[in-house]
Amino acid sequence: MQLAARVNRISISPTAAVLAAAEKLRAQGVDLADFGPGEPDFPTPEHIQRAAIRAMQEGRTKYTPTGGIGPLRDAICKWHAAQFGSSYTVPECVVTVGGKHALFNAFCSLLEKGDEVLIPAPYWVTYPDIVLFTGATPVTVMTDPSDGFRLRADMVARAITPRTKMLIVNSPSNPSGAVIPDDEFEKIYEVCRAKNVWVLTDECYSHFVYGKGKPYSLASVPGSKPNIIVAGSLSKTFAMTGWRIGYALAPEPLISAMVKLQSQSTSNPTSIAQYAALEALTGPMDSVAAMLAEYARRGDRIVSGLRAIPGVTCVEPGGAFYAFPSVAAHLGNGVADTTALAKVLLEKQHLVCVPGDAFGTPGYIRLSYATSIDRIEEGLRRLEKFFAMAEAAR
Ligand SMILES: Cc1ncc(COP(=O)(O)O)c(C=O)c1O
Repeated sequence: MQLAARVNRISISPTAAVLAAAEKLRAQGVDLADFGPGEPDFPTPEHIQRAAIRAMQEGRTKYTPTGGIGPLRDAICKWHAAQFGSSYTVPECVVTVGGKHALFNAFCSLLEKGDEVLIPAPYWVTYPDIVLFTGATPVTVMTDPSDGFRLRADMVARAITPRTKMLIVNSPSNPSGAVIPDDEFEKIYEVCRAKNVWVLTDECYSHFVYGKGKPYSLASVPGSKPNIIVAGSLSKTFAMTGWRIGYALAPEPLISAMVKLQSQSTSNPTSIAQYAALEALTGPMDSVAAMLAEYARRGDRIVSGLRAIPGVTCVEPGGAFYAFPSVAAHLGNGVADTTALAKVLLEKQHLVCVPGDAFGTPGYIRLSYATSIDRIEEGLRRLEKFFAMAEAAR
């Protein structure tokens, strides 16, 4: 079949492919050590669930304005201001069908053939594909594992060309957990502003920062509004992946373009989910702190467990809920790359992970620790056993 070039330019998300293979085994009753899913294992907090039920019972089941109900747009601006010190107004805000949709609509509204988009690696798998979909060109900016995969301003400065239209930043990062220090973030922004390059900051994991770190947004920098796009999501922060609510904050003309695109595609995000989101952003946030504390505990356990496996090294994640160990020392000998390794780990140990090849960093695997400590222990045992057997067979 002759499909359109734009759809042939992209591929199905490799994380989705891994999850589908794992799902098949699960359906057969296999006991999986599942480090695949990039989603909280916690239920959506009850007060948020109740708001959705109330919305349904009150008949809020009709179309809403395309860009989201006024009270939610207002709540997003106020929440963002309170959490990060930004100053957006309702016309500078759109509610989207998850954070990915905010990225998709922002990219489609701004990018075209000939534009270059800087994407720091390791990167979230979706960025290059959406950029390719628009016809623009993704340009990888490699970060340094010995610096914890943090993006630095000089790396950005070196990569900018006259064609560079946008830099994508994701801190804390999926998959590496890297957190860009606040002052470095501002230097990165300055480099981009001076060259008239947009900075799109994906704040999906903003509230999962460990240790002394605090949630940070580039939007807190005075005067930064004209050059930045904030893509936010309630998926991870409030354990709401299935509700599909995200948002963008950006200059009004861009938001209007995104709303226009939305009006001709998805229309409004689900009405009931919007009322749940309104409660999430205006209600208590203690569940977020509780989830963060639990992720920190799990992160410590998995990182120390991984570091104890011979031939495995692992950078300390500063945020999010992923460990991103290097397993390069174990490649070769019939397992050429991490895509092959992930396949063998699934077949032989029933362990689910995502290959680092998918994130632009061969030699690494991503292990999501949005799973219980018991499952983490079990997974570590399986990994250790697998690598010990593989070494013995060398
Ligand atoms: C870095 C990053 N950005 C954005 C998203 C989008 O999340 P959602 O579309 O569920 O809001 C994800 C989800 O995995 C992510 O990891």
